[in-house]
Amino acid sequence: MTKDTTKIIRGFKDIYNDLEIKLLVDFETIISNISKQYGINELRPPILERTELFERSIGTDTEIGNKEMYSFEDKNSESISLRPEGTVTCVRCVIENNLIYDRGIKRKKYWYYGPMFRRERPQKGRFRQFNQFGIEYFGFDDINSDLEVIMFGNRLFKKELGIKDAKLHINSIGNAEDRKKYGDTIKSFLKKHTKILTEDQKKTLNRNPIRLLDTKSETLREILYELPNLIDMLSIKSRKRVEDLLEKLNQSNIEYILDNSIVRGLDYYNDTVFEWKHKSLGSQDAICAGGRYDSLVNKIGKIDVPAVGFAVGVERVLLVLRESYKNAKENNIVVIINYAKKDSVKCLMKTEKLRDQFNKIVFYSTNSSSTLDKQYKQAEKINPNYILYFGDEEVRSDKYTIKILKDGIKHEQISESELIEILKRINKWAINIPKKKKNFYLGLRII
Ligand code: HAM
Repeated sequence: MTKDTTKIIRGFKDIYNDLEIKLLVDFETIISNISKQYGINELRPPILERTELFERSIGTDTEIGNKEMYSFEDKNSESISLRPEGTVTCVRCVIENNLIYDRGIKRKKYWYYGPMFRRERPQKGRFRQFNQFGIEYFGFDDINSDLEVIMFGNRLFKKELGIKDAKLHINSIGNAEDRKKYGDTIKSFLKKHTKILTEDQKKTLNRNPIRLLDTKSETLREILYELPNLIDMLSIKSRKRVEDLLEKLNQSNIEYILDNSIVRGLDYYNDTVFEWKHKSLGSQDAICAGGRYDSLVNKIGKIDVPAVGFAVGVERVLLVLRESYKNAKENNIVVIINYAKKDSVKCLMKTEKLRDQFNKIVFYSTNSSSTLDKQYKQAEKINPNYILYFGDEEVRSDKYTIKILKDGIKHEQISESELIEILKRINKWAINIPKKKKNFYLGLRII
């Protein structure tokens, strides 16, 4: 049967929407700026790697390693795969290129950004091609590096992107022995409940019981609430580590939820594991996930290098940001119509002052040699939500006129403080203007 070649493959998506493109470009600028501030270097590994690399590192008993990879035979009969995630590729890259050493000491920090591929069942926030931004700290075994990685996430979500209601869920899965012991506890605990388990859940119970903790089934969740928490069964060292980390989070005023269901779907973690979640996303609510993986580098490259990191699901972050844009019902472009005959320089200076005060608003001046009518038509083409009029009278009297285009409301003769209040509101909802990219905002339509 011939397929309709004008249709995209299921689970993939085209990106063409103005707002989405704008948010993506902003996001890319923000991550590269913050990474610089933390002294993290960029890596750009390839998208294809040997299948065996992923199978050995992610684990063949995990969903990704077991059935979600896009794997195929190359012409030389070697099995290769589109990367399902970035950590393993980064590890291969830093080992092969000897990038772990910094002036003779085993420690280096890297970030990456790019597409990942998983053949999962498509649903809201779950795509078969999606982008991850990740950071990975190699050679750091101290608790402060776990804290710094979390602080980075906190800065990114709360301060830079303004996603104040992102929630940090944290747990510790201890060492391999702790997990084995806890897995056995789950197995014996669930013996009396086998009837309610689906075939898939029974398989998970046999192979990797702690994965049942992040089940989406409410019935199973309720039963599992009765279990002791994993952190209460950890070995002394792991227990101390998580307690110290939680104490440091308290001292840093970073809110968290200690969550026994955070166990991660990849095999390489130990001790600290965490996810940032957002309630607007439904069942696929993790916008970022990560943790410590002290044995992965050894597993791949036979050298001991402790490591910690996370990856952000970029499309999910964009879904959250798009929602807040819709709720905001504002955009951040103010067109200035300067129709002063005598004091046009004062109008420009006033605009400069507003730019100093509101760094997230685009103030766009029309061609002031045109008539008021023509300037208005120009302004409409730019499609801002606000038009601010500056003429001789406004400059003289310090009373202003601002038109809110979407409602057709014109506030005339308002005082400077009233004007400032309106601009403060716009500034609050606008996301950061990337440096050197102001023009990009023009013509942006909020949908
Ligand atoms: P992960 O939990 O598999 O971890 O993925 C990290 C994030 O990628 C998720 O929290 C989610 O936001 C996003 N994501 C995952 N699958 C999809 C999908 N199908 N569609 C859209 N977004 C998705 C890892 O990949 C680890 N490598 C993270 C890490 C880095 N751990 C240490 N360093």
